[in-house]
Amino acid sequence: MANVVVVGAQWGDEGKGKIVDWLSERADVICRFQGGHNAGHTLVIDGEVFKLHALPSGVVRKGKLSVIGNGVVLDPWHLLKEIETIRAQGVEITAETLMIAENTPLILPFHGELDRAREEAASKGTKIGTTGRGIGPAYEDKVGRRVIRVADLADDATLEARVDRALQHHNPLRKGLGVEEIDREALLAQLKEIAPGILEYAAPVWKVLSEKRKAGKRILFEGAQGALLDIDFGTYPFVTSSNVIAGQAATGVGMGPGAVNYVLGIVKAYTTRVGEGPFPTELHDDDGQRLGERGHEFGTTTGRKRRCGWFDAALVRQTCAISGINGICLTKLDVLDGFETLKICVGYELDGKTLDYLPTAADEQARCTPVYEEMPGWSESTEGARSWNDLPAGAIKYVKRVEELIGCPVALLSTSPEREDTILVTDPFAD
Ligand code: GDP
Ligand code: IMO
Ligand code: MG
Repeated sequence: MANVVVVGAQWGDEGKGKIVDWLSERADVICRFQGGHNAGHTLVIDGEVFKLHALPSGVVRKGKLSVIGNGVVLDPWHLLKEIETIRAQGVEITAETLMIAENTPLILPFHGELDRAREEAASKGTKIGTTGRGIGPAYEDKVGRRVIRVADLADDATLEARVDRALQHHNPLRKGLGVEEIDREALLAQLKEIAPGILEYAAPVWKVLSEKRKAGKRILFEGAQGALLDIDFGTYPFVTSSNVIAGQAATGVGMGPGAVNYVLGIVKAYTTRVGEGPFPTELHDDDGQRLGERGHEFGTTTGRKRRCGWFDAALVRQTCAISGINGICLTKLDVLDGFETLKICVGYELDGKTLDYLPTAADEQARCTPVYEEMPGWSESTEGARSWNDLPAGAIKYVKRVEELIGCPVALLSTSPEREDTILVTDPFAD
């Protein structure tokens, strides 16, 4: 049975949530394997909007198992609130339909405080533009071997020891920043109060998934963010604090790399970015304004305006290689309707040389200027198209050129936020 990984191939917000929801009809289990509630995934089903941050985007489909893997960092208070919000929309969430890996690290209130304090203290040029959700500090504590994990909530003595270990690091740090020290007793009381609500969903996810796999169940892995925000391969340091590329899917839930049969990259038909950092094809003109307005480019998590620019084929070719993408889903094609001319970046100029990839050094990334090729646009509407035959010739040419330039086929196309406004070219789950 085929198992599929869905990953973002740009700077996030490519439309992963919509496509994971669409694909989850074909899957039995849907797993988040990294990131946290810095993600914002919007689903639109018959006009009803679901905004998900920590819950996997398969959660609204009945009869599916949703999994939060150990590669995620989990804010337990946020999760319980999100569950309530989604339940209020009529979705059933129980210990049968949602599992959280016991070894998942927790985001605690002081992680968010530290994240925001650092951003406030940062000067121009060093600010990352994080979501302020405590993602970076929580991953730092995981690697620093002082994070509190879901399983620690089950035993008071362990929990107290873990809290002491975390405070040993954080209180001196806070003192240095001029921030009030953490109140041990108050934090322990908060954690003991939230524990039963989280432990209800706790499970040895690696074991459950191994059994599901043996039983021939199909697993869909849902990535958050996008490859250019990856901690190793993104535009460092303007990145998130986890590996977001497809290789993380296996370690982020506890499976071998052979569990993954197909990697689907989600690619927006143009480019957007939230937060700071280099963005070679960014537009500051009427075309950029138009992309933002037509694409409703405001963040689901922070409401921030997304920066917009032309499609960057050089970058997507690079991220297809890094994530081992087998096919892409090209989303938001409809946003390009009515542009007289479209530009596609095919490489960069740097110090008089032409490059076909974005270099690693931050100063070079910032100095790269895009090399464009131009194509005529199309005047017809592609909005809501559900078959290849519904697409105007100009749009088909654009899609074909994107395929050629990135060296990867289009497996799916998306033409509106609605679940069913999706065109299937090749089924990623096909054996
Ligand atoms: P994600 O983070 O990758 O899941 O993407 P987001 O949900 O943050 O952002 C994508 C936005 O585009 C959401 O508001 C979606 O409803 C919307 N969207 C997804 N696919 C399409 C599409 O094909 N056309 C249009 N116009 N909007 C889309
Ligand atoms: P989805 O899953 C877009 C960006 C932030 C910031 C950087 C670091 O919806 O695609 P963090 O809070 O993670 O430490 O912030 O990463 N960022 C995202 N941008 N989509 C996301 O998720 C993002 N998650 C984080 O804006 O630049
Ligand atoms: Mg998003």
